[in-house]
Amino acid sequence: MSTTNEQPDTDTDGVRRIYDPVADTPLRYRRDPPEAHPSLDYPPYKSTQLRHPKEPLVYLPHTVTEITGPQLDRTLALKETDHDLTVQAQGEPIGERIIVSGHVYDTEGKPLRDTLVEIWQANAAGRYDHRWDRWAAPLDPNFHGAGRCLTDSEGRYEFTTIKPGPYPWGNHYNAWRPAHIHFSLLGRAFTQRLVTQMYFPGDPFFPYDPIFNSVRDERARERMISTFNIHQTRPNWAQAFNWDIYLRGPASTPFEEAF
Ligand SMILES: [Fe+2]
Repeated sequence: MSTTNEQPDTDTDGVRRIYDPVADTPLRYRRDPPEAHPSLDYPPYKSTQLRHPKEPLVYLPHTVTEITGPQLDRTLALKETDHDLTVQAQGEPIGERIIVSGHVYDTEGKPLRDTLVEIWQANAAGRYDHRWDRWAAPLDPNFHGAGRCLTDSEGRYEFTTIKPGPYPWGNHYNAWRPAHIHFSLLGRAFTQRLVTQMYFPGDPFFPYDPIFNSVRDERARERMISTFNIHQTRPNWAQAFNWDIYLRGPASTPFEEAF
């Protein structure tokens, strides 16, 4: 079945179909294995000790409320500059310009179009433009660190931004977060809501970061790391990193709080 008059429902390889919000809404979503997502209580990540549930979770049945969700489209009032964090202020931000792009897929590898992708991040010095962030790194008046876009008809998103710096966070002695970008996706159903972090390849802080390592499955951790793509760099302008996001299923991107 085709979702629009012009849009074929398969790629040239005949494998992936464009998501149809009616025909493809399942009756329920399969729950992912627990090791694919961070533990709610992970003692090395200190604040989880205070905020994790003390009792076993009670899994409620999926009803229409959970299997349907926000139906966003191009009428959402996105600004031209929302996906380019380097042009949102008067001047040029400081740091390494990067293009971060990828596809958003559903459980069965179907690209999800019109999915709202939101990001927030620290600046090149590792500092957030937020009143609670007071560590001794400079703010950049030309970088606020927030962006959003909708995926296109092939489920693709793209941001232009500045590579964030690592920052100390006080969890334990000399604790530093690896450089990362926070992502939020709404998906097609409220059970697909995803909040997670994208990392950069080869970061030396990976072995020391309890947030990264709270995802116990090594292959699941690797799914949080972007890949450098020389072919998508913009010569004399920007580096490029790819990161595909799977909202559910065996290749699911780890959620910060799975449910
Ligand atoms: Fe962060």
